[in-house]
Amino acid sequence: MQPVFPLLNPREVPNKPVMAHPQRSEQVVLLTLLGTLWGAAAAQIRYSIPEELEKGSIVGNIVKDLGLEPRELAERGVRIVSRGRMQLFSLNPRSGSLVTAGRIDREELCAQSPRCLVSFNILVEDKLNLYPVEVEIVDINDNTPRFLKEELEVKILENAAPSSRFPLMEVYDPDVGMNSLQGFKLSGNSHFSVDVQSEAHGPKYPELVLEGTLDREREAVYHLVLTAMDGGDPVRSGVAQILVTVLDANDNAPVFTQPVYRVSVPENLPVGTPVLAVNATDQDEGVHGEVTYSFVKITEKISQIFCLNVLTGEISTSANLDYEDSSFYELGVEARDRPGLRDRAKVFITILDVNDNVPEVVVTSGSRTIAESAPPGTVIALFQVFDRDSGLNGLVTCSIPRSLPFELEKSVGNYYRLVTNAALDREEVSSYNITVTATDKGTPPLSTETIISLNVADTNDNPPTFPHSSYSVYVLENNPRGASIFSVNALDPDVDQNAQVSYSLAEDTLQGAPLSSYMSINSDTGILYALRSFDYEQLRDLQLWVTASDSGDPPLSSN
Ligand SMILES: *[C@@H]1O[C@H](CO)[C@@H](O)[C@H](O)[C@H]1NC(C)=O
Ligand SMILES: *[C@@H]1O[C@H](CO)[C@@H](O)[C@H](O)[C@H]1NC(C)=O
Repeated sequence: MQPVFPLLNPREVPNKPVMAHPQRSEQVVLLTLLGTLWGAAAAQIRYSIPEELEKGSIVGNIVKDLGLEPRELAERGVRIVSRGRMQLFSLNPRSGSLVTAGRIDREELCAQSPRCLVSFNILVEDKLNLYPVEVEIVDINDNTPRFLKEELEVKILENAAPSSRFPLMEVYDPDVGMNSLQGFKLSGNSHFSVDVQSEAHGPKYPELVLEGTLDREREAVYHLVLTAMDGGDPVRSGVAQILVTVLDANDNAPVFTQPVYRVSVPENLPVGTPVLAVNATDQDEGVHGEVTYSFVKITEKISQIFCLNVLTGEISTSANLDYEDSSFYELGVEARDRPGLRDRAKVFITILDVNDNVPEVVVTSGSRTIAESAPPGTVIALFQVFDRDSGLNGLVTCSIPRSLPFELEKSVGNYYRLVTNAALDREEVSSYNITVTATDKGTPPLSTETIISLNVADTNDNPPTFPHSSYSVYVLENNPRGASIFSVNALDPDVDQNAQVSYSLAEDTLQGAPLSSYMSINSDTGILYALRSFDYEQLRDLQLWVTASDSGDPPLSSN
């Protein structure tokens, strides 16, 4: 390129103000004439180069801009002076160009400053003239946005409010302008978005924004990929993994697997036998999902019969069951998680009857003594049968031995009458032990025996009887008076009065005198006494009737 100031003496040129705006590697130098005052503010020489050029790259044709010839560099002692800084540039004595002394990293030099200027002076030694030079280092997109951590776990409570924000890792792009970080992209997940709150030039702090509501029980973990992009050409981008762990909140109550549990158990279950287990599940985790069980509002009595395992929900018996006492139980159970959310269910326990009760016979009324004259059909006793069991186990039939002169008649309800079905005879059987057998229809059947004792009371139905219808006695004459000559004995099978026999002689006369003057009888003993001394020549035989009579009412007698 032609010198810009061809009319000037080249030696004077450094005093002319100039502006240099080289465009990248093209060494275009624009010179502006600012004034012509000697010794006044020296013209500023400016260049602009991109960062990261190879060592030795041309920054500007400094010799020309100073109005010198390349050979004069050495002759006049032209050199760069800078204040203790590491030398970034050097002079190429052959071409007379200002060149880079090494690779220049704008970010190292100027960090995030939007403009990066390097100033130094060129000294022309022979005249001790100083010429200020300024080189602008232009940013290129040589840095990729970089996350401070490439993986991050974010823990979010499942009940976090929508629009909640959660800080993510910092991200840096040391480039400036469009080459710096411009935006983020979050891999497709509609639950989250990314937003950035930061000052214009500082580091960017992206935040994860919750876009809806979470439910740990539905989805507990999200794998997100966060991409940070700059605006360079081409765009550079950095990637980080975000693991979102949804933390449990106690948002689920325990739920019983059934609203109602039903079970039937026989009443003879041994104490301590498990009857049934209730079960509630809680979708939460940890203590939020730890379920314990308890009874709700149960009576004192039920609490003595059933017990509930707090941890397993198993219900077992703690006492003997008795169908006859209670055949059905309704229990309320509650499941509760540690923080206190609850559910309730019902347990219906039906007790099945077992034939464990023997029938009972209760004699409610009746005479224990019956007159032997009672006609067939006379009621002896009224009794009731019970069986605490139910169904066939409680269905009772009664019987008595066939051989007895009695029978059972069914009365109302569970009453039976014991009646005679034949004439009784005390003299034959004076008492009966009647065994009433009550048997239920269970399997196996249970039975009970009750003895009804019956005494047959005497009636005067038997006259005293003599073993023989007539007796002949021989007596020697001249017997002493008052001698006992015979005794009769009549038997009466009845008892007591009815069997108490008294004897008498029938009225009669003999040879004009009453019989009673000849003979007498002891009414108690039946001993006959001669009242006279008999004379064979006067009285050969004597006939008399002895009457035996009992004391019954009416009395019975025989002769
Ligand atoms: C309770 O019910 C759940 C779901 O049906 C089942 O997975 C679990 O094994 C049950 N627990 C018990 C103790 O039966
Ligand atoms: C009836 O039973 C009683 C008492 O067991 C007994 O003393 C009596 O002899 C029995 N009577 C009959 C007729 O079996």
